[in-house]
Amino acid sequence: MMSAPLAARTLPLAKLPAWKALLTHCQEVRPLHLRQLFADDPQRGKRFAIDACGLYLDYSKNRVTAETIQLLIQLAEACSLRERLEAMFKGQKINVTERRAVLHTALRAVGEQILVDGIDVVPAVHAVLGKMADFTDKIHRGTWRGHTGLPIRNVINIGIGGSDLGPVMAYEALRHYSRRDIIFRFISNIDGTDFVEATRDLNPEETLFVICSKTFKTLETLTNAHTAREWVLRKLGDDQAVARHFVAVSTNTEGVAEFGIDTNQMFGMWDWDGGRYSMDSAVGLSTMLAIGAENFHAMLSGFHDMDQHFRTAPFDRNLPVLMGLLAVWYTNFFGAQTVAVLPYEQYLKRFPAYLQQLTMESNGKHVTLGGTKVDYQTGPIYWGEPGTNGQHSFYQLIHQGTKLVPCDFIGFCRALNPLGRHHDLLMANLFAQTEALAFGKTPEEVRAEGTPDWLVPHRTFEGNRPTNTLLAERLTPRTLGSLVALYEHSVFTQGVIWNIDSFDQWGVELGKALAEKTIPELEASQTPNLRHDSSTNALIERYRRFQKRKK
Ligand code: F6P
Repeated sequence: MMSAPLAARTLPLAKLPAWKALLTHCQEVRPLHLRQLFADDPQRGKRFAIDACGLYLDYSKNRVTAETIQLLIQLAEACSLRERLEAMFKGQKINVTERRAVLHTALRAVGEQILVDGIDVVPAVHAVLGKMADFTDKIHRGTWRGHTGLPIRNVINIGIGGSDLGPVMAYEALRHYSRRDIIFRFISNIDGTDFVEATRDLNPEETLFVICSKTFKTLETLTNAHTAREWVLRKLGDDQAVARHFVAVSTNTEGVAEFGIDTNQMFGMWDWDGGRYSMDSAVGLSTMLAIGAENFHAMLSGFHDMDQHFRTAPFDRNLPVLMGLLAVWYTNFFGAQTVAVLPYEQYLKRFPAYLQQLTMESNGKHVTLGGTKVDYQTGPIYWGEPGTNGQHSFYQLIHQGTKLVPCDFIGFCRALNPLGRHHDLLMANLFAQTEALAFGKTPEEVRAEGTPDWLVPHRTFEGNRPTNTLLAERLTPRTLGSLVALYEHSVFTQGVIWNIDSFDQWGVELGKALAEKTIPELEASQTPNLRHDSSTNALIERYRRFQKRKK
């Protein structure tokens, strides 16, 4: 019988002196208003800011003092953050429940040797990147053609979770740099609508499917991949066509071969790279096909810059460490339940969705590494929408609701599509929102505007709503890489404090298993003997009744 691996920390979080100090300190900070903190320190806006890897983080509009930051860093040290991050970078098996190394940083490593079970993984990473670049070149030059000799004009990535969200987000984020002569689409949902709508106007003769699945076992992806195969063969009528219209990204060579894709057309990945951390592995093949190998490598450089920064910068000048610790501060000491991510950049419209998997599949955990139930809150809910759209929908709650919602605002100084005054108006809104959230409007100010007394409470803004602002010069492949790595390492920092395994995802298993059991019950021609709870039984019975084709 395998024994449970050693937990990284034995002293419970609540017993750490640094945690206790923060609990006391939090009582002192809670009554402080950002208005006062800024009035007391005219340099605060510059003092609580860091510039690294092309990203400027202004965290001055947070409900923190210099002492808060010091105490949070003491907490990080007490939780051995430095040792834990080194263990990750060096390929130790820090994903304890799956006994795996966690090496997304190896995907962008240069000139290093990183050993897993005594084997250097970096050469294999570069070999796959080289194979991706060769393939990209063939598609772009038109030397790789479809079965009937037509060049590839459409690329469809089929995958889900980490095999979809990273590719979609990166494609949308870097669309400005992408080939406009190729159509890129992404099919993830098992809902047939996703497939039908993605393919309805395309010619199979010009379409390449990238079947992206680390395990090559995922129900949604395999179902969509089989449908894609039928779609291609219906038009081309020849099994040989599969070779020209399908490539795979996976760790599962047998699964790929069984599906009928030549394993020479498979781009490998490794068990030490988790799905939600895989966008710069071969999972990024569609990204490379869209933006080219050079831009893809620029993106990897951005990731690498942030990796180096995370690994070497002192904690008080370390972007991911500070952002991670601020998330812990609000989650555990202010009772905040969520973090809103608000990019003022239309190209980042899928960034919040991408972050949802990264953050919540990683830190949505209820037991420590040692298997003990936690007695503190872990991963907050990440959500968001691009600005300014969100301002006209949910910002009301952030400004005047009863919940504390820390926000990350993300903006760029230069527009990728300069158009009249648009960019100034966009960014003026970003700056205005963080100002309004921090400082609000007092009843006196509202009254002084001539507001009648009865309306004053409604028009008062309490303020003191915390925000981070991330400002970069321009959205480039390199900036995107740094931005994603910033959140990856912020998530890691949070996970280390909470002493949880940020790299497993057991929570998705139960639903998958129950769905497997339910599928035959929906498809059976005879009324099945349902043995669920009364609610699920009734729902299934009703579904079957409306399906009509079955008894
Ligand atoms: O169901 C969750 C999950 O395992 C994710 O962690 C993963 O990114 C996704 O499914 C897709 O998995 P695969 O790439 O193996 O198809």
